[in-house]
Amino acid sequence: MGTQNNFKKHGVCPPIAVLCSGQGTNLQAVINAIRARRLRARIAVVISDRAAAFALVRAKRADIPTVFVDPKHYASRAACDRRLIAVLQSYQVRLICLAGFMRVLSPVFVRRFRNRILNIHPALLPAFPGAHAIQDALAWGARVSGVTVHLVDEHVDHGPILLQEAVAIRPEETEKRVVTRVHQVEHRLYPKAIQLMLDGRVKLVGRVVRLKAARA
Ligand code: GRF
Repeated sequence: MGTQNNFKKHGVCPPIAVLCSGQGTNLQAVINAIRARRLRARIAVVISDRAAAFALVRAKRADIPTVFVDPKHYASRAACDRRLIAVLQSYQVRLICLAGFMRVLSPVFVRRFRNRILNIHPALLPAFPGAHAIQDALAWGARVSGVTVHLVDEHVDHGPILLQEAVAIRPEETEKRVVTRVHQVEHRLYPKAIQLMLDGRVKLVGRVVRLKAARA
């Protein structure tokens, strides 16, 4: 597969971390975007709270350092998050990208990296927060759902919204098909949002994101 972290080809790229618990298709989209030079970044580390996460395999295939943080080894959420903070600090990452990371991060973690944590969610927030957003939208009979990339604050699926894109839900569609179409949008949106953050184009006015114009 080869490395995504080619300094000679890409110049000095800002280090980011990607945190995953599962398949890692969004991680793969970020790796691919870096390879295709649609995203100027370097994934310094991939962290997972699940040893069996396929995301870890994807990272290893791309020569990206991986760290498994086992929540069972820690007495509390805060203690586990302190370990996550230590790992992230050791890699000196500029941005932390949650990509299907199924743990709720503690206020200590959020405060430490305030406005430097992104999350991607498979619905148009504030509609359908939580771990089963696509299934919830289908069960509700929603005709439109979508994808949200947002900054992470102390509340779940709640922080300032960076990018959103709608996905129409056709009544005759299977869940599998909707999931595929939502993921396709995710894979396009996340690298774009990461680049906006790394380019310093995100300005917060209260909880509203204003995107600064791109530098010429
Ligand atoms: C994505 O749908 C993302 O929006 C949500 O978790 C899922 C992760 O999928 N937060 P993958 O592991 O990137 O394939």
